[in-house]
Amino acid sequence: MAKSIGILTAGGDAPGLNAAIRAIGKAALRTHGMQVVGFLDGFRGLMDKRHIRLDSDALSGILTQGGTILGTSRSKPHKMQIGDQIIDMREAMVENTHQMGVEALICLGGGGTQKNALRLAKRGMKVITLPKTIDNDVWGTERTFGFDTALNIATEAIDRLHSTAHSHHRIIIVEIMGHNTGWLALGSGIAGGADVVLLPEIPYEIDKIAESLTRRKAKGSRFSIVAVSEGAISADKAEVLNTLRDAKDNSKGEEKEAARAKLADFEHTREGHTARLAAELEQLTGIETRTTILGHVQRGGTPSPKDRLLATRLGVEAALAAAEDDFGIMIADRDRTTTRVPLEEVAGNRRSVPLDHPWILTGRQLGMGFGD
Ligand code: F6P
Repeated sequence: MAKSIGILTAGGDAPGLNAAIRAIGKAALRTHGMQVVGFLDGFRGLMDKRHIRLDSDALSGILTQGGTILGTSRSKPHKMQIGDQIIDMREAMVENTHQMGVEALICLGGGGTQKNALRLAKRGMKVITLPKTIDNDVWGTERTFGFDTALNIATEAIDRLHSTAHSHHRIIIVEIMGHNTGWLALGSGIAGGADVVLLPEIPYEIDKIAESLTRRKAKGSRFSIVAVSEGAISADKAEVLNTLRDAKDNSKGEEKEAARAKLADFEHTREGHTARLAAELEQLTGIETRTTILGHVQRGGTPSPKDRLLATRLGVEAALAAAEDDFGIMIADRDRTTTRVPLEEVAGNRRSVPLDHPWILTGRQLGMGFGD
């Protein structure tokens, strides 16, 4: 049984992280008699040995707090920016835990963190992960904590946009986070009654969107709400994107770096995409159009009860897995139960919205437009 564990939070923050830290910590201290430390600012703190002791006092009163008391960063163990250099710090991180007497590491994060945790596991670190992200896109789990809170925030925003869109007879385009998946836009779009929902999983044609908005107007609806996932993309651009992604995934060494750079250039051309979409739709429909970008407000504030419950359940299981010396796993929520999934299966995969998902089918039955 591991006697001393470390916890870190990496990637974008999400509501429920502190609930998870508290659950791991309390179960580890009280039930399993372990020592617990928290590394600060993700993998960067592990590299620098910057940490705090997570004792009962440190864990008290954090359940309802948003963000993460440990801080976070997007630093990657194998590509650490140190000064003007990029250095592989995996060995150093493993060595740090040995020196500190930390026997196992629990990493709380999204898709990138699952990959980074596996990279350390392959260097001999005893690792367990938890799935957190507002995007809900971690492979191997049906829910990530953070998603429910963000869903509530985005839904409330859509609710509120209805009355102003209605009063001014406008189209309001609301951009919703989600990275390359559309869970958040789809869920809040349906819950908030959006008229059109655009997802990365369903490349759109602008004429089709304009058609459905014009049809609505012809039928007497004098306003429309369009929920756009930040990763939504037109069909022609999706083709280019897929080619660039394939080139990156199927190359090695210098070629891979070049393909990565091309992909990054392409991503830059997509900045301001929602504002451009709004301008085009205004022109095509002749209806005054406004844009709202929800941004980081979707990640802020206190976690919903559902996220607290999920984070707490998964956190307690992570402490138990450490006590049982079960490593190289992610603690997942599947079929309404807590499950341990091999990290090898999770890392490098993304959970997109399946095209036959009940939420998509529900939206179609309601006459919601998807731009396809
Ligand atoms: O992964 C969570 C997320 O909020 C995504 O929805 C979004 O694309 C990204 O993080 C934003 O990242 P940052 O906070 O680094 O701007």
